[in-house]
Amino acid sequence: MAERVRARGPGRVNLIGEHTDYNDGLALPFAIERGVTVTAEPLTGDRFEVRALDFGEEDAFLLAAPERAGGWRAFVRGMVAELGAAGYALRPARLTVEGDLEQGSGLSSSAALEAALALALLAVAGEEVPADRRELARLCSRVENDWVGAETGLLDQLAVLCGEPGHAVRIDFATLAIDPVPLDLAEWSLMTLDSGAAHSHADSGYNDRRSECRDAAAALRVTSLREATEADVERLHDPLAARVRHVVSENARVDAMVAALAAGDLDDAARLLDASHASLRDDYEVSVPEVERTVERLKAAGAAGARMVGGGFGGSVLALLPPGAAAPAAAITVVPGPPAALL
Ligand code: GLA
Repeated sequence: MAERVRARGPGRVNLIGEHTDYNDGLALPFAIERGVTVTAEPLTGDRFEVRALDFGEEDAFLLAAPERAGGWRAFVRGMVAELGAAGYALRPARLTVEGDLEQGSGLSSSAALEAALALALLAVAGEEVPADRRELARLCSRVENDWVGAETGLLDQLAVLCGEPGHAVRIDFATLAIDPVPLDLAEWSLMTLDSGAAHSHADSGYNDRRSECRDAAAALRVTSLREATEADVERLHDPLAARVRHVVSENARVDAMVAALAAGDLDDAARLLDASHASLRDDYEVSVPEVERTVERLKAAGAAGARMVGGGFGGSVLALLPPGAAAPAAAITVVPGPPAALL
């Protein structure tokens, strides 16, 4: 049993493949350097004490029976409950949470927090992390679905737990196969810029989009939209037709991006980012004016391609900049860093 442990969960950027995870589709995310750190120190007694330094807030709850709560507390209580339900023998601890990932910026502060919590709670209790990290990703996702109330898929948790330095990972959500793809950008760079419109999966139209996809799959008599084709779009009316057009075309763009990266064709990679953004804006309808303005700002600064990342309705915009382009001062360079780990 450890005395004091620290775990770091990174945020993530999804290069391409948005709103495909819960449709058994494809995505190409990577873990980034920024993230959330959780420190755990064992406590005698029967309860957890938690401090969220970035919010200046605290919480305390019983190990045996964490009760429901809102905001960041839902993640901590939910993680303790779900790890317990999965059979891990947890140990009461004082948890300190801090990070450098803006909440609501669309870089998955949620999955970063979940992964850091899971690793810290297991380590302080002397429990082994499952060898297949996809198992832990599923558990983290249950916390988000059942405790936070966001019906998110597995994209963020897999990116954060299974990412590889220097690589994006191609995830096939039908099989959960994960293949590293070298992200070699030569002199080009990837940057994100926060639109300033904070988004929350639980409150935005995210859950509505999921239910539209379920309705479209039922109308097409397929188990998931992974089986849908371009021809199927004609069989539906809008908005379901447009939603399916996005999912089918976005899956194709993921493999086109893998090919562009393999060929070192960054102009093509930029074109794919633009096409993904247009599809998310026009067919999936998850953009907002702040995001559109942020795309325009990045384009004006010389970005060759730019698109919203994450669930939409706010959050950050990702841009691919050629050598010499000068990004706005608030933009941050993102490179593929290590996955969640003990420090
Ligand atoms: C959020 C969710 C993910 C995924 C993306 C959209 O980040 O957490 O599961 O659905 O939106 O691609």
